[in-house]
Amino acid sequence: MIKKGIILAGGHGTRMSPLTKAVNKQLLPIYDKPLIYYPISVLMLAGIKNILLIVNKGQLNQFRKILDNGKRFGVNISYIEQPKPRGLPDAFILGKKFIDKDKVALILGDNFFYGQSLTNKLKNCTRLNSGCKVLLHSVSNPELYGVAFMSKKNKIISIKEKPRKSKSNLAITGLYFFDNKVVEYSKSLKPSKRNELEIVDLLNRYRKKNKLTAEFLGRGGAWLDTGSIDDFYNTSSFVSALENRQGLKIACLEEIALKNKWLEKKDMKKAISFYGNCIYSDYLKKLI
Ligand code: TTP
Repeated sequence: MIKKGIILAGGHGTRMSPLTKAVNKQLLPIYDKPLIYYPISVLMLAGIKNILLIVNKGQLNQFRKILDNGKRFGVNISYIEQPKPRGLPDAFILGKKFIDKDKVALILGDNFFYGQSLTNKLKNCTRLNSGCKVLLHSVSNPELYGVAFMSKKNKIISIKEKPRKSKSNLAITGLYFFDNKVVEYSKSLKPSKRNELEIVDLLNRYRKKNKLTAEFLGRGGAWLDTGSIDDFYNTSSFVSALENRQGLKIACLEEIALKNKWLEKKDMKKAISFYGNCIYSDYLKKLI
């Protein structure tokens, strides 16, 4: 079982400037809670309690203020600062000590997942024995993403970053599950032309060894990445529509912890007093 997860929550956030000049993108709101709540909720749904948050140098306190060590919602959060955005595989170089001899999941801080049987699919992925598993989802604009090309037997035969014309519409989402080789492989990667370590190069290492497998989010699932201002508004509308229709919150961390039995009802009181008088607290009150 994979019991550790890394969230990459640094980055320039260039496309969201000026919103990201003073505040990290992951702390901006997606409807009623900061963006960072959503990737944390995904790891928690996968049963992952041990979380390393990689943040930009100088922004650690912003995250600590809202997340602290994670105890409020039943998890353990530790932090590392990334001096500059060196690419996604840098997570495994910076996180070497945290990973130690274990397997690890990686989720990008700006990725949003929602859908029926998501929890089961996530749990399936954490049962990875060896190699790497990626989560694929169909998109209408594959030229904007890393794309997987599949064989008839549903094996990944190749991956391409932002293909101009693509016969495959299966984007590689920002959620990955790795065995312990990921540290060694990441260290051996060379920076690309844009001077970053590339996730596609890392995935190709696994593919060449026949160790790259896929899980599909399926058409009942939603995957949204929140890199641009329009993405932020669209994702916020999506969350608002679902939450208000159902009366259930998406990515309420304390609720997931309660369901996972990582917290007891009495622990909710601390969370309620932390949040103060607000709709989020009203929701927590209803849970108990
Ligand atoms: P990107 O979308 O590549 O970059 P960004 O969020 O900085 O945005 P922009 O392109 O507008 O400048 O990153 C995806 C996520 O991964 C995002 O949440 C930031 C994070 N990230 C890091 O934390 N460290 C890194 O080295 C990189 C490349 C990304």
